[in-house]
Order: sequence, then C-alpha cells, then structure tokens
Amino acid sequence: MNPQRPPRPPLDLVTLQGLAPWRVEVVEESPSTNAELVARAREGAPEGLVLVTEHQTAGRGRLDRVWVTPPRAALTFSVLLRPAVADRWWPWLPLLTGVAVVEGVRAAGGPACGLKWPNDVQVDGRKVAGLLAERVETPTGPAAVLGIGLNVSQEREELPVPTATSLALEGAPVDRTRLLCAVLDALVGQVEAWVAAGGDPSHQLAAAYAERCVTVGQQVRVHLPSEELLEGRATGVDTGGSLLVEVDGRTVAVSAGDVVHVRPAG
Ligand code: BTN
Repeated sequence: MNPQRPPRPPLDLVTLQGLAPWRVEVVEESPSTNAELVARAREGAPEGLVLVTEHQTAGRGRLDRVWVTPPRAALTFSVLLRPAVADRWWPWLPLLTGVAVVEGVRAAGGPACGLKWPNDVQVDGRKVAGLLAERVETPTGPAAVLGIGLNVSQEREELPVPTATSLALEGAPVDRTRLLCAVLDALVGQVEAWVAAGGDPSHQLAAAYAERCVTVGQQVRVHLPSEELLEGRATGVDTGGSLLVEVDGRTVAVSAGDVVHVRPAG
C-alpha cells in the first residue's frame, strides 16, 4: 500500500438512507452484488432496491469476465428494476444505464465521459466504469439487475489493465457517496422517462445515447460471442439497441460483442 495515498472513507450511510425512490443497502463485503440481487429478485425483492458493497471480491463482468476492486476504492453496486415495458425494448436498459452513469459522473464533478458501445464508460479512451445488466425471470414477472462498477480512487497499479483508469487518475477525486447519489438520481430520471415512453427509445433515450456514444463513426473490430471477428465501420445504433457495422458494403446489426476501436474513421 502506498503510505502517501489519500484515505478511502466509507460510504455515508445516513445520506444514502434518504434517497427515495431508492432503498439503499450497504454491505462491507460481497462476492458479487449482481449475483446477490438476482437471488433477492427471485425471492420477490421490490423494484428500487440498491445493493452496494464496500469490497466486491468476485464481481461479474460482461462476457464472463471478473470485476474485482480494492476495498472502498470503487463504487460497486447493483440496482433492481421491474420495468413495465415490452420485451423488445429491454435491450435498451444497458444503454440507458450507461447514459445515467455518464450524467451522474459529470453531475458529481467528474470528467466528461463517453460510452463505448454498448456501455463501457470511458474517459479519453480509458475505461472508468463497466456495467452489467442481467434479466431475471421471477415469480412476479421479469426483473432487471443493473450492476455498475465505477473506478474512483484506484492508483495505476491497482487497475486490472493499462487501458483502465479511475476518476482520481483523471484528476477528479470525487467523493463516493456524492457520486452514488448523482448516478442514482440520473438513473431515476432516465428510467422514468423511458418507462413513460413505453420503452420506445425514439422519444429521448436514443438521442441521449447517441450524444454520448463514442463508437459510432469509428473503425471497429467486434469479437462476437460466436468467436467470429467482424471488422468495419460503426455507422449507428438501431431501434433495438444493436450496433450497426458496415462491413464490405453491407450492414450488420450486432446485438452482443466486445468492441475495439481500431482507429478514428478518416
Ligand atoms: C464489465 O465487464 O465491463 C462489466 C462490469 C460490471 C461490474 C459490476 S460491479 C457491481 C456489479 N456486481 C457485479 O458482480 N458486477 C457488477
């Protein structure tokens, strides 16, 4: 441990108690807040439950990766929603969550961030937050668990890869309680607008996402879940939230995959 490192204070539980419509629970340690909230959703936990841990030890990432962070250095939390929108609009939930994180980071005094499709939150091409949205079938209907891992005070050697960053490394050592409040505030705004529109992104969400998405217009390499590789130019996001990639004159809609920005399109 670096003895010069600024202290890492715990989350302020009193502030987090008054965050209606959210009900925030903080636990000292958890293997994965997503795994725990998925189980709670199946047991009937209500919409609005937020589970935060000060130390996540076996977090789930996208595409079966892990997401582990040092105690109190990151914000690691999951949110339970039961949105009453048609199934065909659900793929927008991960994108909506990305928009809310970008908004929340900015509102809390952090840097301007961009979204690498679908929802990696980046600062100048370096990943500062990762999001994992999971759909769960429960006895009272489908639920969504939105997991957010946001790097706050990690030093370079505490990050898993050289392409990652933290808010502190970007010159914005934001207080985690303030940040959590700001992200949840942005999230409630985005979710309410989306549900009020019946899930149709064309009312507001698609534009909000496009404004923040740094992938469209770029030359991309996409690692598909089938292990196929696709290379082309990202031209947009369709009404189902898929990334449109122009490959040899035809357009392919990608609904899942790992995107690498190869170089800015000329
Ligand atoms: C990614 O691979 O980019 C997504 C990472 C998502 C990590 C967050 S941390 C809180 C929540 N709980 C988990 O187990 N995963 C998510």
